[in-house]
Amino acid sequence: MAPLTGLSLFLVAVGAIASPLQKRAIDGLNTRAVAAGKAYFGSATDNGELTDTAYAAGLNNTADFGQITPGNSMKWDSIEPSRGVFSYAKGDVIANLAKANGQKLRCHTLVWHSQLPSWVSNGNFDNATLIEIMTNHITNEVSHFKGQCYHWDVVNEALNEDGTFRESVFYKTVGPAYIPLAFAAAAAADPAAKLYYNDYNIESAGLKSTGAQNIVKLVQQYGAHIDGVGMQAHFIVGSTPSQAAQEANMKAFVDLGMEVAITELDIRATTPISDADVAKQVVDYGNTVRACKAVERCVGVTIWDWTDKYSWIPSVFSGQGSALPWDGDLKKKDAVYSAILSAWDSGTAPTTTPTRTSTAIATPTTTTVTKSPGCTATAAPKGTAMLWGQCGGMGWAGPTVCVCGATCKKYNDWYSQCV
Ligand SMILES: *[C@@H]1O[C@H](CO)[C@@H](O)[C@H](O)[C@H]1NC(C)=O
Ligand SMILES: *[C@@H]1O[C@H](CO)[C@@H](O)[C@H](O)[C@H]1NC(C)=O
Repeated sequence: MAPLTGLSLFLVAVGAIASPLQKRAIDGLNTRAVAAGKAYFGSATDNGELTDTAYAAGLNNTADFGQITPGNSMKWDSIEPSRGVFSYAKGDVIANLAKANGQKLRCHTLVWHSQLPSWVSNGNFDNATLIEIMTNHITNEVSHFKGQCYHWDVVNEALNEDGTFRESVFYKTVGPAYIPLAFAAAAAADPAAKLYYNDYNIESAGLKSTGAQNIVKLVQQYGAHIDGVGMQAHFIVGSTPSQAAQEANMKAFVDLGMEVAITELDIRATTPISDADVAKQVVDYGNTVRACKAVERCVGVTIWDWTDKYSWIPSVFSGQGSALPWDGDLKKKDAVYSAILSAWDSGTAPTTTPTRTSTAIATPTTTTVTKSPGCTATAAPKGTAMLWGQCGGMGWAGPTVCVCGATCKKYNDWYSQCV
């Protein structure tokens, strides 16, 4: 390989996969993120993909990826497929790759209703036994990877779209306490790892984001440790929240003492993607990265794999795809890639140090079930909460009476909702 000239540097920057050594010397998504004060720009990956040499070379390029997340190999069904039998071989491959490359590792995920072996979901365990099983799983896995996980996604997707708790086996058996218990077990096993709650559709204000904020308060109320909230950000071209909406939402978590991260970013389109959708996608990627740039405690952005070749989208959303900055032939999409690069450069980096607004534990309110008086209105009149709206909970200053026809139901001390 001839020495890099200005021209060949340019060609490498916009062109196809070059040798890792050559690429490490150049500018990329991660180097720009770090220059913007972030900890990383990263990608999810999976064991099967690593035998694809061109793919592995791209993932190894730390100019683009300073962090990796195992897509599947640290999930419960992979780690503890039967009770008490732990299998770390695949998770170790990803952890060792991160170590060899000097990439940060987001470990994913300990407690999730999906990819959960049926011995857990259908075991009909009582409360104490399920807590024991969950705690044992967390203690064993977090101890195994101790010192290697920059972040742990401790609890994943615990919420319904309306912000109420998902009826997982953990919720049904243990109640909301499973969440703080999980965080406490993870903190005990690796005090250095940053502990995250991770979910989708919490990237802008709404019932589900409010629910995630209530989860943060719940963990804090129990005296357990939580460091951050992961916004998955599985977006759709043209309906991605604005930069302002994402920033304001991140700040709501920061105000609770959290750091935040974009953990699973992809922006899907109907395939084959139209030029108009490419133009929207460029704006959408830019808005999301600029939002993270603008919020000091947003620590990094992870895309959910880096090439359409290994994206989960087409297999789950039929007729959709083209969600990532590299295409199915591992070719960089210049417009999307440049949009991310320049988003990291945009504006000035935030300099203020955010402070926790309050660490005091408030006294729970007593929220009683309130049925609104008979009426015919369909919209929520002033002073009443709308259907699915929050109508009570600790620290809640909003309406406590629901719109006509809805009932304010208390889920726990932190959250009542019009149903
Ligand atoms: C990727 O990085 C790992 C660890 O540094 C190395 O073992 C592997 O050979 C690299 N693969 C390619 C294709 O560069
Ligand atoms: C299960 O046990 C835990 C820990 O003792 C407790 O906090 C929780 O409320 C219990 N859940 C139920 C449904 O009894």
